[in-house]
Amino acid sequence: MQPEQKLVLITGAGSGIGRALCVEAAQRGMVVALCGRRQNALEATRALLGTAAPHFIIPADITRPEDRSVIVERIRNQRGALDILINNAGIVEGGPLETLDDATLARTFQTNVMAPISLTRDLMPLLIAAVPSRVVNVGSIFGDIGYPDFTCYSAAKFALRGFSIALRREWKRKGIGVTYAAPRATRTDAAVAFTDLIARTKMSMDSPEQVAGQIWRAIAAGRDSVYAPAPERFYVLIQRLFPRIIDWSLQRPS
Ligand SMILES: NC(=O)c1ccc[n+]([C@@H]2O[C@H](COP(=O)([O-])OP(=O)(O)OC[C@H]3O[C@@H](n4cnc5c(N)ncnc54)[C@H](OP(=O)(O)O)[C@@H]3O)[C@@H](O)[C@H]2O)c1
Repeated sequence: MQPEQKLVLITGAGSGIGRALCVEAAQRGMVVALCGRRQNALEATRALLGTAAPHFIIPADITRPEDRSVIVERIRNQRGALDILINNAGIVEGGPLETLDDATLARTFQTNVMAPISLTRDLMPLLIAAVPSRVVNVGSIFGDIGYPDFTCYSAAKFALRGFSIALRREWKRKGIGVTYAAPRATRTDAAVAFTDLIARTKMSMDSPEQVAGQIWRAIAAGRDSVYAPAPERFYVLIQRLFPRIIDWSLQRPS
């Protein structure tokens, strides 16, 4: 590995936005550590990255403490420092609240909130060793706008956004930046959960490559957050200033 090549760890690297983030990272000359549960999916992503850099895979379930230890050890042994951590892995489970059992609530919060927070904490020494380094948390527009039938997912993304803001203020003095990314509906496996909503609202959809491009440009510019383009960015502004308008818009009969 060339000393000048940055090392980026991307969770959820085996598909969707994570895969596109890996491809652009490799195009930008970085070494990519690909993390996810399905080894074959990670191998398929790695095959897209070329051989110009020693990309490596770390099969791991980020909700398992022992797997997170494996991730930290692997990065420590490989380089002893981590330039960029992208907490992208996530799950989307929708449905009216009364249909979401305790296991679903726990799984959503474990994967989308607890695991990225724990992993970020455990990787702190390696991020400090690479200062100026950066943590990127992939949230969602649902982390600003609470959607009916996505109560638990919205709550988890609101939590991830709150974590990102507080951590950015806490770690600024350490030289570790934090970027919160809020994509809109994106054509990935996870979007299956939104099929009805997308059909009903005629929501705009991005490709994973478009989202990855937005995120990488935000990282390169050292931005605190990156939001989906208009009109979603505009809806977030309305949500902050005039939330009743969003209430009204989401209650309209379809
Ligand atoms: N698609 C959208 O419309 C949309 C919009 C806004 C935000 N997002 C967010 O974007 C992120 C990526 O989602 P996506 O749309 O690209 O969907 P995706 O293709 O389903 O990707 C999610 C990835 O997370 C990995 N993952 C899930 N649980 C994991 C765990 N416990 N440990 C390790 N890896 C795990 C999955 O791989 P394995 O199953 O192999 O572990 C999968 O590769 C998520 O945080 C999602 O909330 C998506």
